[in-house]
Amino acid sequence: MTKANLLHGKIAVITGAARGIGRATAVAFANEGADVVGLDICAMVDSRSGVSPATPEDLEETGRLVVTAGPRWLGVQADTRDLPALRTAAKRVEQEFGGLDILFANAGIQSFHPLLEMEDADWSITIDTNVTGTANTLRAFAPSLVKRGGGRIILTSSTQGQHGTLNGAAYSASKWAIIGLMKSAALELGRHKITVNALVPGLIDTPLTRHEERYAQAIQVAGGTPTGVLVTDEEAARKGLSRHSPLGVPWIDPNNIAPVVVFLASDAACMVSGAAYAATGGDSANITA
Ligand SMILES: NC(=O)c1ccc[n+]([C@@H]2O[C@H](COP(=O)([O-])OP(=O)(O)OC[C@H]3O[C@@H](n4cnc5c(N)ncnc54)[C@H](O)[C@@H]3O)[C@@H](O)[C@H]2O)c1
Repeated sequence: MTKANLLHGKIAVITGAARGIGRATAVAFANEGADVVGLDICAMVDSRSGVSPATPEDLEETGRLVVTAGPRWLGVQADTRDLPALRTAAKRVEQEFGGLDILFANAGIQSFHPLLEMEDADWSITIDTNVTGTANTLRAFAPSLVKRGGGRIILTSSTQGQHGTLNGAAYSASKWAIIGLMKSAALELGRHKITVNALVPGLIDTPLTRHEERYAQAIQVAGGTPTGVLVTDEEAARKGLSRHSPLGVPWIDPNNIAPVVVFLASDAACMVSGAAYAATGGDSANITA
């Protein structure tokens, strides 16, 4: 079987690359011939969230998978909220790889807090990471794409950035903001032959969604009451989510969303900009915007 090469000779930067959607996309990019720079904090971001932190070993594993596919890899441990650190990383990519063609600004976090019980940090950690972190990524790396004479930027939003989320106001607000950021960037960067689009994932099978707090939220949305027993709640969440999903899929495999990012990063998408692309197992049918 011959290898595909939709991204042959391209250099891609991916944030949130240690695992989940970031890792699946890193491997999909590598399988299409792109060198990959994977950036991740590899540490706890929000101790209030039930999501376990990614580790340096997770990022190394993404690198191992990229190198196994053939292309070059560089792993960078950095926090997207730290703009100077991102600018240093961008300089390093220019020095070591000669530039950059694709930016997938994907790092993000999620936690659930009812508005009436929300503490200041519940709001600010999510907004700082998901909105400011994504804008920082764009601001730090877009100048390299301009120097290169064009390229592709993809930002990760969410269906929860297209409708309200029970006990998830900060997350919904942050992911809705990503759409505004994407559309504004598409207007500004088009003259540099840079396209900017958003990925809208449905519920994806990653550490972000596979924990007690997230199962409880899914059960509450379906009108039920969580038991607090992990296995029981996982099963109840699976049943409720499967029933709700038009394609009957409770959690979508991240490998089934990565091809959308490959398309948006490819030459084939040269006339796609300012658009939101959803892979939701059919849940998009419930969204009017
Ligand atoms: N999993 C889903 O159902 C789903 C649905 C819609 C949108 N999303 C979005 O997709 C993106 C990836 O999520 P995932 O499901 O792969 O989750 P994940 O937790 O598996 O991966 C997210 C990665 O981002 C990294 N990260 C978080 N904050 C960071 C920061 N400040 N600096 C650098 N790295 C940071 C984490 O360390 C982690 O490795 C996120 O933006 C998330 O909001 C996920």
